[in-house]
Amino acid sequence: MIAEYFKSKKIVITAGPTYEKIDPVRFIGNYSTGKMGYAIAEELAQLGAEVHLVSGPTSLTPQHPSIQLYQVESAVQMYDTCVKIFPDCQIAIMSAAVADYRPDRYNEVKIKKSEENLTIHLVKNPDILSTLGHSKKANQIVVGFALETHNELENALDKLRRKKADAIVLNSLNDPGAGFKHSTNKISIILEKGTIFEFPLKEKQEVAKDIIKCIAENLA
Ligand code: C5P
Repeated sequence: MIAEYFKSKKIVITAGPTYEKIDPVRFIGNYSTGKMGYAIAEELAQLGAEVHLVSGPTSLTPQHPSIQLYQVESAVQMYDTCVKIFPDCQIAIMSAAVADYRPDRYNEVKIKKSEENLTIHLVKNPDILSTLGHSKKANQIVVGFALETHNELENALDKLRRKKADAIVLNSLNDPGAGFKHSTNKISIILEKGTIFEFPLKEKQEVAKDIIKCIAENLA
C-alpha cells in the first residue's frame, strides 16, 4: 500500500546545513550532516517516488540513480530552488538545518584581524517551510522538522501551526543519540490535530521508514 501511494509522487526534500558566507574563506554554518534527509530521499526513491533532493554542503552522495540532486550553499539558494520545484510536487519534507540568519553583507576580500572586537550584522533568512506551508494547495503535504531543547511538544506544535505544516518531526537534543552528528535518531511525529506518535531510538534509515509510513497512513 505504501509503495503504491508513493509511486510516481513528486517530492521535494531539503537536507544538510546551509552556509552563510562572511568573506571568501569564512561562513556561518552548523553541524548538520544531512544523513536524515538523505535517508528519507533514498527510501522514497526506492518506493518509486520522483525525488528532488535540495542539499546544503554535505559529504554525502545519493545512491539511488533516480534521485535528482540540487546542490546549494546558502538558505536563500535553498529557498529559491524549493520555491521553483514545489508547485509541481505533492509532498515537501524539510529536514535541512537552515540558518535563521545571514550576514547582512559579504566581504569581497578576507576580513583582516585588526580591532579587539568585530561585529557582524545578521539579517533574517526566508523560512522555506513556512513559505511552502502557506502556499500549499489542498493536494499538497508539507512536513517539517524541529530540534528543541525545552518545552519540546509545545514548541513543535506551535511551529507546526505557525508554519502551516501538516506534520512536524520532533527530535530532542536531550535524547542521547538523537539529532546532529549521530547515525541514530529518536523522533516523535506531531500532526496538525495534535496527535503524537513516539518512536524509539533507531538508525536514521529506519527512522526514515517510520516517517514515510506515518505520512502515508495519516496524511494521504
Ligand atoms: O524554526 P525552526 O528553524 O526550528 O524550524 C525548523 C523547520 O523549519 C525545519 O523543517 C527546517 O528545515 C525549516 N526551516 C526552513 N527555513 C528556515 C528555517 C527553518 O525551511 N529558514
